[in-house]
Formats: sequence, C-alpha cells, structure tokens
Amino acid sequence: MLFVPVFEGTDPLEDLPGLDTATGGDISRARESSEFRGRLYELFIARVTGGPYRALRLALVGAGRREDADAERLRRVAAACSYTARIRSARSAAFVVRAGLDPIRVAEIGADGMSTAEFDAGTYKSDRDTRGFPERIVIVSPAADPTALAEAVFRGRTLGASANVTRELANEPSNVLTPRVFAERVAAVATEVGLKVEVLDEQQIRALKMGMLLGVAQGSAEPPRLVVIRHDPPGAPASPVLGFIGKGITFDTGGVSIKPAEGMERMKYDMSGGAAVAGAMRALALLKAPRRVIGVIPMAENMVGGKAVRPGDVLTAASGTTVEIINTDAEGRLILGDAIWYAQELGATHLVDIATLTGACMVALGRTSSGLFGTPDAWVETVQNAGTLAGDRLWHLPLHEEYRELLKSEIADMLNSAGRWAGASTAAMFLREFVKDRPWAHLDIAGTAWAEERRAYQAKGATGVAVRTLVELGLRTHI
Ligand code: BES
Ligand code: MN
Ligand code: ZN
Repeated sequence: MLFVPVFEGTDPLEDLPGLDTATGGDISRARESSEFRGRLYELFIARVTGGPYRALRLALVGAGRREDADAERLRRVAAACSYTARIRSARSAAFVVRAGLDPIRVAEIGADGMSTAEFDAGTYKSDRDTRGFPERIVIVSPAADPTALAEAVFRGRTLGASANVTRELANEPSNVLTPRVFAERVAAVATEVGLKVEVLDEQQIRALKMGMLLGVAQGSAEPPRLVVIRHDPPGAPASPVLGFIGKGITFDTGGVSIKPAEGMERMKYDMSGGAAVAGAMRALALLKAPRRVIGVIPMAENMVGGKAVRPGDVLTAASGTTVEIINTDAEGRLILGDAIWYAQELGATHLVDIATLTGACMVALGRTSSGLFGTPDAWVETVQNAGTLAGDRLWHLPLHEEYRELLKSEIADMLNSAGRWAGASTAAMFLREFVKDRPWAHLDIAGTAWAEERRAYQAKGATGVAVRTLVELGLRTHI
C-alpha cells in the first residue's frame, strides 16, 4: 500500500507523475467530484492497475494545509497511515515524502509516525485484534541522498519504537507494574541497548536520606525504587551533562487525601514521565547521542493505609529541606524533589523533569499541550524549540516569585501544596526549591500523556509524549 499525503487546496501531485493513470483516472475523478479534498486525515484508496508503481493499492491521505505542515502534523499524518495499513492488513506500507518538504527531516518523521500502529494496547484481551502491523515499512524520498535517508529512517524508527516502549509501560495496570516491576522492566530496556543502569532499593534510598520519596512510599505494601540510567558515550565532553528526571508513581490513590472514585483507574498512568525518560534513554543509546545524559526515575505507589503519611506530617528531603504535608495527593513533587537533588549529586548540569504533575495544568491547557516551566528563560526557550522540532507541543507558563509565598509553612521550610490557584505553577515552584543554580525545565504532561479518545492518528491510551523532545535535546540541540 502506497501512502501519499495530499495537501488541501491546490496540490497537483506533480512530483508523482503517472499516478493518476496508474489508477485508471480514479484520483482525478475523486478530486474533481470533491470525494477527496485533502482535508486532514481524509482517506481515498484506489487500486493500482498499471503504470510504474509497484504497489497494489494507493492511499491518498489528507495532510491539511501545506503551511500548517509542522513536525507534529506530519507525524500524525504518517501515524494515520500506519493505522490504515494495519486495519487493511497491508503486508508492506510505503510513505511518500512529498516534494517541497525537507526530504531528510520528513523521512525521519515519516518513519517515526509509521511506527505508531505497531503498539498494541490489546494484550489483555482474549479476543484481541490479530491483524498484524506491516512486515515492511518503506519511506520514499526521491530528493534525499540515499545514505542520509537510510540514517533518517533509522532515527525515525528508533524514535517511534522507543515511544512505543514508553506507551507500553504507561498502559500497564498497576497490579502488574508495581515500583519493583517498573524498575526491572526499565532496567531490562536500558541494558538491552547497552546503557548502564542502577536500581536502588529501599535501603539504599534510606541511606541517601530521601525522606520525601520514602514518605510517599510508606503507605504502600510495595517498596519504592530509584532507577538511574547513564548514557556515557566514549569521548563525550565533560559538560553539559543532561539530567532527565521522570515521575514514576505506579498508582496514585491520593493517599489519605484520597481522590474521588470516578476516574481513579486512570491514575495508573502517573508514571508516564518516568516511562518517557526510559524511552528517551533507549533512543539516545541506539542513536549514539554525542553527549552525556543521566536519567533518574523515582518509583513509588501512593496508597492509603495505617502506615501512610498524613496531612500535617513533616518530611525531610535528601537536600535537608523540611516539608509540611498539606495534601498527600501532592506526591509527585515530593518524589521528584529528591530525584532532582540526586541528579545534581550525580553531576547533571542541565535538568529537565517530566511529570503528570497537576490537574491544574490540565485545567489550564487541556489535552493539547504540555505545560513548560523553568529557569533561566534561555533554557526554557531551548527546550521549547526542541519540542517544536520534535513535534511535542509545549506551552510556557509562569513562575512568578509571589507563588513562593503561597508555599510558606508555619512549622517547616515549605508546604507541599499551595491549594487551588495557579496549581501548576506552585507545583513547579516547589520543584524549583531543589534546583541548585543551574538550568532547569519542568514539563507537566498530566493532560497530554493519555488520550481519552481514539483519533485517526492515535489509539486510546498512553501517547508517549515528551520522548522525542528529550531525544532532540540529547541528540542535536545546541546547548
Ligand atoms: N497525579 C496527579 C495529577 C494528575 C491529575 C495527573 C489528573 C493526571 C490527571 C497528582 O499527583 C495530583 O494529584 N495533583 C494534585 C495536586 C493538588 C493536591 C495540590 C492535583 O492536581 O489535584
Ligand atoms: Mn496525586
Ligand atoms: Zn500523582
């Protein structure tokens, strides 16, 4: 099946001579009658009956307006192709990089997007959809240099497959993916691609005095873990050392400040930030990224119970900061605070943390973009640009100094929750307290890590958001 993205409006398909004749004039008929107009994800399938094209089927895919064709859009178009290929049981699927687009960049995006349907969330269904993913994915980019094209396709496949590793982890139910199992699975993913991994158990976490991570974990029968993944390419410069820190709450009941029953089942994806770090580290290793990167993933289950932390309790962070717990449901910032501190102890010079941190960020931005916070502005801008190139939409939200006052405690150095207003920003402000004078950015992916609705380009469930932004930062961003 040959997939051809077609732009809305005038798109004469001049770079694909003979295509219309190959389908016996079906294409021109469909376009003249407005059966196919190139509207986003619109589909028109024709039989190939002659001409120079070897495919049995031709699929025109609406790509929307040419001027809107950024990385995110093009990847989604390719992803829609991959779902069509799968539904139609295509054994081989080819994606055409249209003339006028950057042939290398779009080949990478095409290979990445075409990998989307390879992920299957149906593993727990007895009557699962057995229609397989195509055996072969082909990227057609006539204008590209063959060597550069092969490399771009490898990058794209690696990105797509790594994002699928993240999606697979985030989709797992919490009885399967406990902190211990999460740690084992991440360690296996990392070891397989030659990364160095360390899994710290509860004793080692205690030895590091991570009172916030331990405080969150103490209500659960499942012990916490802290996973450290290192990408240390030979000959890499001593600095920068990127530090990626991902929230790994395998289930969030809210703790004693318990969440309402409705929708609580979703809180299995509260480890999506941690899963994104794991997926990104995998890709960076396979792509032999030139700089040093450290991934730190604190893992715990936030439960209710006789041993659980209470509102009013005071916890002492590994950094020495004392924190009065106001709301046990503000647990992500606690485990991240200790992990951010540790990433710096390990030598990280530039930090990015990724977390399904606040409902407030979802209230502000919905499901269309992740919240972006940080200091200094230059680093925030660097991360923002990496997001745009990678096709992850990030929206910069403020960290006004006044927010810090809302975190003042009567008894300790800080509160863990400042209540309702500017909830995404005050959560970020809490994290900032653990950053020691170096560039730091925080991505709140609460609204973007999970798709509640099936779309042409996206299955319901975990999205793999932020993986590509992290890879962009480790691979080719100028720092
Ligand atoms: N994991 C949640 C945030 C979340 C909410 C993620 C909805 C995905 C969807 C986080 O731990 C949390 O509970 N945050 C609280 C903080 C509040 C108690 C200050 C929130 O957002 O309500
Ligand atoms: Mn919570
Ligand atoms: Zn949470």
